[in-house]
Amino acid sequence: MSLFAPSSGLTLLQSTKDQNFRQLFSSHFINHVQVRTVPYATPFLSVNVSGRPFRVSSRKLKPIIASAASTVETPKISFRGKNPKDINVLVVGSTGYIGKFVVKELTSRGFNVIAVAREKSGIKGKNSKDDTLEQLNGANVCFSDVTNLETLEKSVQGLGVSIDVVVSCLASRNGGVKDSWNIDYEATKNSLVAGRKFGASHFVLLSAICVQKPLLEFQRAKLKFEAELMKEAEEDNGFTYSIVRPTAFFKSLGGQVELVKDGKPYVMFGDGKLCACKPISEQDLASFMADCVLKEDKINQVLPIGGPGKALTPLEQGEMLFKLVGKEPKFLKVPIEIMDFAIGFLDFLVKIFPSLEDAAEFGKIGRYYAAESMLIWDPDTGEYNAEATPSYGNDTLEDFFQRVLKEGMAGQELGEQTIF
Ligand SMILES: NC(=O)c1ccc[n+]([C@@H]2O[C@H](COP(=O)([O-])OP(=O)(O)OC[C@H]3O[C@@H](n4cnc5c(N)ncnc54)[C@H](OP(=O)(O)O)[C@@H]3O)[C@@H](O)[C@H]2O)c1
Repeated sequence: MSLFAPSSGLTLLQSTKDQNFRQLFSSHFINHVQVRTVPYATPFLSVNVSGRPFRVSSRKLKPIIASAASTVETPKISFRGKNPKDINVLVVGSTGYIGKFVVKELTSRGFNVIAVAREKSGIKGKNSKDDTLEQLNGANVCFSDVTNLETLEKSVQGLGVSIDVVVSCLASRNGGVKDSWNIDYEATKNSLVAGRKFGASHFVLLSAICVQKPLLEFQRAKLKFEAELMKEAEEDNGFTYSIVRPTAFFKSLGGQVELVKDGKPYVMFGDGKLCACKPISEQDLASFMADCVLKEDKINQVLPIGGPGKALTPLEQGEMLFKLVGKEPKFLKVPIEIMDFAIGFLDFLVKIFPSLEDAAEFGKIGRYYAAESMLIWDPDTGEYNAEATPSYGNDTLEDFFQRVLKEGMAGQELGEQTIF
C-alpha cells in the first residue's frame, strides 16, 4: 500500500459530502442494527431494512439505535445535545492497550460504541474474533481493515447508521518506519475520512506527548495527521477535534518489576536522572479520552496529559520499587554513549543493507526514551517542565508496581518489538 495514497484525500468538500449523505441515508434510513457472530468477511453487522427478521447470534450485543434521519438531512444539531445512548462513537484501534479501556469506558458511560477490529487482533494477532468479541463486550464490533479506505467505508456503510464521533487509538504495533506511516498516519487518516463521510463531526485522537520533539518516524507520522486534523477543523467550523498527548503508560515502566523482585539490579541510563515522566494508567487515560467526546473545554485542543503525583525519574522509580520489595537498592548504570555507538553503527549498516532500516529505528526509539522526558517541553528554556504537565486520574505508579509484584505483568505486555 502506498504510504501517501492521494485517493483518500483528507479534506472532504462540503458539496460532495452532503451528496454522499443524501445517497446513503435518504432513501431508507435504518433504525436498528444488530451484530452477528457468523464469520462474514465484511461488513459484520446485519441490518434490518425490510421487516425481515434479523440474523442474530447467540452472542447478541447491544443494538445500535441510529440517529434520527433528520440529523443527517437537515442542518446538523450538535451530537453534544443528545443523550449518550443516541451518540454513535466509532472507535478504531479498539483492541490495543488503551483502546480496550476506551471502549469499556465509553460503553459504561452509555454511548453507542462501534469498535472496529481486525479478525485477528492483539499482539502478534493472538486473539480470534470470539476473543475480540469477549474483550469488547458491550460494544458493537465491526471487523474491518482500517488500512484500506474502501473496505473501511464499506464496513461503516454496512452499519446503516451515522457516526457522530470517531475516537482513534490506532498505533503501529512495532514502531517500524513503514508501519508507523501506514498506521499512525494513513490508517488514522482513513478513519477520519470514513468517519466524516458518514457524519462524524468530532475526532478524538490518541497521540503522544513526545511529538513535541519529533526525532522518530512514528512521531513525524503522528504530527502529520495532527496537522491535517486541525486543518479539517479550520476549513469546516462544524467539525472539531481533541488531540490527547499522554505521558508514559504504566506498561512502559513495569518491565523491571519482576526482575527486581528476583534480586536483579534495576538498569538505568546515565545517573538515572536523564528523563522523567508522570505515568498514567490505561483506565485514567481512557477516562480522559472519554471526557473529550462531550466536554466543550476539550474542543479543538491539544491536550498533554499525565497521571497523578509528581514527575518521576528512572532513579526514583527504581528506589520506589526496591522499597516495595523490601530490598537494598541495587542499580546498574549504563552509559548512554553505548546507545549512541550502536545507533551510529546501525545507521552505517542501513546504507549498505536498507532492510535494517527498522532495526536502526528501534535503536533510535530506545535512545529517545532513555534520555527524553515525557513532560511538557518548554522551547523558551529548552527544558522539560514537570509543573506545566497536567495531571489527571487517581492511579499511581506505586499502586501499579504493587499490583505487578502480586499478580505479574499480564495485560501489560509491550508491543511487537518490546519497545512501546
Ligand atoms: N507506551 C507509552 O508509554 C506511550 C506513552 C504516550 C503515548 N503513547 C502512544 O500511544 C499509542 C500506543 O497505544 P497502545 O499502547 O494502546 O497501542 P497498541 O496496544 O499497540 O494498540 C495499537 C492498536 O492499533 C491497531 N493496529 C495496529 N496496526 C494495525 C493494522 N495494521 N491494522 C489494523 N489495526 C492496527 C491494533 O490492532 P490489533 O490489536 O489488531 O493489532 C491496536 O488496536 C502510540 O501512539 C504511542 O505513541 C505511548
